[in-house]
Amino acid sequence: MSTSQSWDPERYARNARFVADLGMPVVELLEPQPGECILDLGCGDGALTAKLVDMGCSVVGVDSSAEQIEAARQIGLDAHVMDGHRLTFEDEFDAVFSNAALHWMGHPDEVIAGVRRALKPGGRFVAECGGHGCVDTIVRALTEALKRRGLWADGINPWYFPTDEEYRERLIRQGFDVKYIALIPRPTPLPGDIGGWLETFAENFTSRVPEAERPAFLEEVREAMRPKLCDAEGAWTADYIRLRFKAVKEG
Ligand code: BEZ
Repeated sequence: MSTSQSWDPERYARNARFVADLGMPVVELLEPQPGECILDLGCGDGALTAKLVDMGCSVVGVDSSAEQIEAARQIGLDAHVMDGHRLTFEDEFDAVFSNAALHWMGHPDEVIAGVRRALKPGGRFVAECGGHGCVDTIVRALTEALKRRGLWADGINPWYFPTDEEYRERLIRQGFDVKYIALIPRPTPLPGDIGGWLETFAENFTSRVPEAERPAFLEEVREAMRPKLCDAEGAWTADYIRLRFKAVKEG
């Protein structure tokens, strides 16, 4: 799975602030306690990391995007560029927390192994990410428009959206006791036109199209999605399905 996705903090703040704003249910599942050491895996610009700090936790954020880590550092967070497949921590954290990041990591067993290493015994892994069927309408529209141009290739889709059963099995195999796991349909109203969402998250697809043809490509994709995702007033909703879970490191 190759990725040409880039992360511009200004663009992310403009089009995707809702990602952190809708993150409170997973923070509540984490039940952070003052004084706890928490790793925020895929912290992005640190919006939720900062919330955990405000709740009295000692938080380290990691993300593969140097631009997002710079944005997180600018608001005073302890944040580091790190690939989630290669976490370097050992027995350091009471909890590993992750919101809207795991679906960008295509090798889940490597991620889970790193999380397990990073946790103290009895530590918890609490996360939310895209789950099976997430943004199906969007993926289908993008895929079909690329196919019509002869531009589709395996590996373009960068997202890993597992079922709850698949992820539960992966966690158990690596020595986690799964306390809660569920797929949660969460149609998500977007702050503006769906073009902003595509610009922010779908670069892996759109970058395949020559720049001069991109406006027509995006218009075609928009029209294909409109019947399912746009209401009569022109408000767009993305067809999100979340996978949310809490698992405890055994042994
Ligand atoms: C998310 O941020 O949750 C997300 C991003 C891309 C595709 C689906 C979900």
